[in-house]
Amino acid sequence: MYILILNGSPRESGNTKTHIESFRRGAEEKGHTVEIIPVGRMHITPCEVCEYCHELKGRKCRIDDSMISVYPSLRKADMVVFASPVHYFGFSAQLQALLSRIYCWHKLPASKYAMILSSGSSDVFDGVIAQYRGIVKYFKGHDEGILTVSGKDNKSEETLKKMYDFGRSLENPVEEVQSEEPE
Ligand SMILES: Cc1cc2nc3c(=O)[nH]c(=O)nc-3n(C[C@H](O)[C@H](O)[C@H](O)COP(=O)(O)O)c2cc1C
Repeated sequence: MYILILNGSPRESGNTKTHIESFRRGAEEKGHTVEIIPVGRMHITPCEVCEYCHELKGRKCRIDDSMISVYPSLRKADMVVFASPVHYFGFSAQLQALLSRIYCWHKLPASKYAMILSSGSSDVFDGVIAQYRGIVKYFKGHDEGILTVSGKDNKSEETLKKMYDFGRSLENPVEEVQSEEPE
């Protein structure tokens, strides 16, 4: 399947990036196609609620920024992974801005979702997890898993293995079902 990872971290070689790379390796070994979009380093304006998109049949956003290049990937993804550092108990502002820009479609078409969170302290994930679960339910999608890492565990071998194993655990949908010959 085609897996789209939205990296909300602005840090080019940050913890989230390290986690994602291990996840990607596992998923690619399993035969999946993975794309990573560095949302945290892009300039995506939050939705301005101008309603231009809803007055058009094409539901196209009027704001001309980097988000224009993200929509095609969001349209074709079978699975979307929200990967983010915890910033003040939430997603990074960059990832949150991207989420608001889904308003023109209301929902994403992907059927599978996952979330990878990195933080400084433990016990800071409840708010983001509640938001993620609400989003997945609203999209009528399926949650494939939530991985959270904090503090010194961010760079541990055990964490990287966990990310890799998660990527490898994702099943590829059966592409062809051979029907049995009638007797
Ligand atoms: C603006 C900002 C806000 C943060 N807020 C929190 C927070 O609320 N709770 C927490 O445990 N860590 C917080 N942190 C720490 C990051 O979540 C942590 O360093 C994380 O591993 C960074 O991931 P990255 O390297 O992928 O960007 C914050 C860091 C920044 C820069």
